[in-house]
Amino acid sequence: MATETDLASAVMDDLEQAKARIEELRRELNRHNCLYYVQDAPEISDAEYDALMRELKGLEEAHPEFIIPASPTQRVGAAPSAAFGTISHPRPLLSLGNVFNDSELRAWYGRISKLIGARAHDFVCEYKMDGLAVAVTYENGVLVCGATRGDGATGEDITQNLRTIRSLPLMVAPGAPKRFEVRGEVFLPKSGFEKLNCERAAQGMALFANPRNAAAGSLRQLDPRVTASRALDIYIYALGWVEGGAVPDTHWETLAFLSELGFKTNPANALARSLDDAATFHARSVAMRHTLPYEVDGIVVKINQMALQEELGELGREPRWAVAYKFPAIQGRTVLKEIRVSIGRTGTLNPYAVLEPVNVGGVTISRATLHNEDDIRRKDIREGDSIFIQRAGDVIPEIVGPTPDAAARLDRQAPFDMRQRLMDVDKGIPVCPACGAEVTQFAGEVMYYCPNAACPAQSLERLIHFASRGGMDIEGLGEKVAAMLFERGLVGDVADIYALKDRRQALLEVERMGEKMVDNLLRAIEQSKAKPLTCLINALGIRHVGEETAELISEHFGSLDALMEAGQTELEAIYSVGPRIAESIGAFFQNPDNRRIVEKLKQAGLDPRAAPPSSEGQVLEGREFVITGRLENLSREQAEARIKALGGVAKGDVSKKTSYLVVGADPGSKLAKAVKLGIKQIDEAELLRMLSQTQLGI
Ligand code: IVH
Repeated sequence: MATETDLASAVMDDLEQAKARIEELRRELNRHNCLYYVQDAPEISDAEYDALMRELKGLEEAHPEFIIPASPTQRVGAAPSAAFGTISHPRPLLSLGNVFNDSELRAWYGRISKLIGARAHDFVCEYKMDGLAVAVTYENGVLVCGATRGDGATGEDITQNLRTIRSLPLMVAPGAPKRFEVRGEVFLPKSGFEKLNCERAAQGMALFANPRNAAAGSLRQLDPRVTASRALDIYIYALGWVEGGAVPDTHWETLAFLSELGFKTNPANALARSLDDAATFHARSVAMRHTLPYEVDGIVVKINQMALQEELGELGREPRWAVAYKFPAIQGRTVLKEIRVSIGRTGTLNPYAVLEPVNVGGVTISRATLHNEDDIRRKDIREGDSIFIQRAGDVIPEIVGPTPDAAARLDRQAPFDMRQRLMDVDKGIPVCPACGAEVTQFAGEVMYYCPNAACPAQSLERLIHFASRGGMDIEGLGEKVAAMLFERGLVGDVADIYALKDRRQALLEVERMGEKMVDNLLRAIEQSKAKPLTCLINALGIRHVGEETAELISEHFGSLDALMEAGQTELEAIYSVGPRIAESIGAFFQNPDNRRIVEKLKQAGLDPRAAPPSSEGQVLEGREFVITGRLENLSREQAEARIKALGGVAKGDVSKKTSYLVVGADPGSKLAKAVKLGIKQIDEAELLRMLSQTQLGI
């Protein structure tokens, strides 16, 4: 009698046999790929691997109908494309707050401890890889798309290039959720960077300044074959989101889970039981960094418990539950040729250093910020000095101070004097170098300002800021183009850019602006009209209002009109908006020029509305709060405003209806009354927890 197997093979025709072998080869090759590139523990020789690959290629050539994108033969399958598409991230890719020493690390922990209280938790410490953040999506176990971080909300579609990275699986091990996204950092190891630059030097091509730039250049190639030729690698550090599957309770378990699925996680990741352990991990990493085969610019400390991560949420674009503890900056030495003064968009007069160009950690530096006159004097930096310069990651380079031999010289220049430098000898007063207006200084501030809102240098800076990434993000309207439009009088204030569409001919007459460039610019300008309110508020360049504050006020007010009419009290009631910011916003919208610009923007069709606060935002609905005693972090008015903003009620006295009595320092008689009525008492930390859970609609 024939067995089942016999019967099965009898009906299995050639085609099915080929298909079965193809699938078996793919499984095997994927497994060996993972052993080799991810786990660094190969089981077979390169020759054996090549033989399996050849067999698979042969079978796929004979049966092209069986080729699938996830086949190991298809890593570099795609043809070059003309441009990258965009992919919007279902969950935004966040950035990280920075700390630079142990006491700042403790301060970060102090802030979040108020919110998580005494609940048990630990930390995960990871290297902060100096590469490029990417998000990669898998469906039914197969890599379907991948994108750069972009502005956090949308990135570039670099799927075909990511597929060429051998340590990124095209297909994951069984047991994966139905759909999920992993996040990680693509980087070029130091060896790959050196090799690449050697090749480029041999071909007379420009060299990459550092591995990070080289990695970015490699990932953003339109031809995936070029990307494939670079030794890019990737460490995965998070699950972005998951559908159809459970997520582990801790980040540490998530990393283990990712590794089981076949992703490459950094073996240096460590579980830290205490903040002291995290600080030790940092100290050890600093000592180790030069021995690592890749560039690392710090460590990332993350709260391990996912439930606490969620509760802590984020403020602006930075999660509260994680922080980057940067490595000390890299220093170099050069000569300070001259101190010059530039004009910022809010009229600040900013001293900066012109340097003898110097290479510091792979980047050539010829300018450095000097903050303000006090700082220059405190550090005793003088023109002509030989100085130490430092840079930390992407931060603008900074002068540390003169070298000891420079400081000891007797023939040094006189200390820098801002008033003297700005002095108009005829008028006998310090003036703005761009417009000649007499400069002013606000009481208690070290900065000098040009008070002339019509100052051309300020207007140009405002235009550049308006079009920049965190603002209206108008591609093609960078510093150079902005300066040209401005010089030719095509644009006076920021609202004028929306009238450029009627001046196409004039634009074409600007040197180096071809048809294509003009069309792209006009398209980008039109597209910017759809930018959300928070970008527009940031783009306006109100003093002290950055991206984070813009986000908070746009959520609160929902429209430009509402914001323009807001009073100081309402502004100050917003979490993290203090009197200084509130005053600045008020002053901005009282200024007739600014009101006119906003009006012009609205007429051009810009009047974005923020989404109304979600119903989840009303979590304190039906709860009544009474406060007694002094709170440490919030004024009573702020606390009450925030309770109300979340749908709660704030009352002056305790009654049977009171849900919570918030007890601060030196409580009054309300406490006794609450005890008598059996009202629940909470402290300020507990109140902050309730408020923060919902602050950003988590
Ligand atoms: S966590 C939600 N972990 O750092 C927190 N980021 O400033 C953000 N980065 O662009 C991601 N190594 O690409 C995390 N081990 C690591 C990282 C890491 C490098 C980058 C990341 C992001 C930037 C955040």
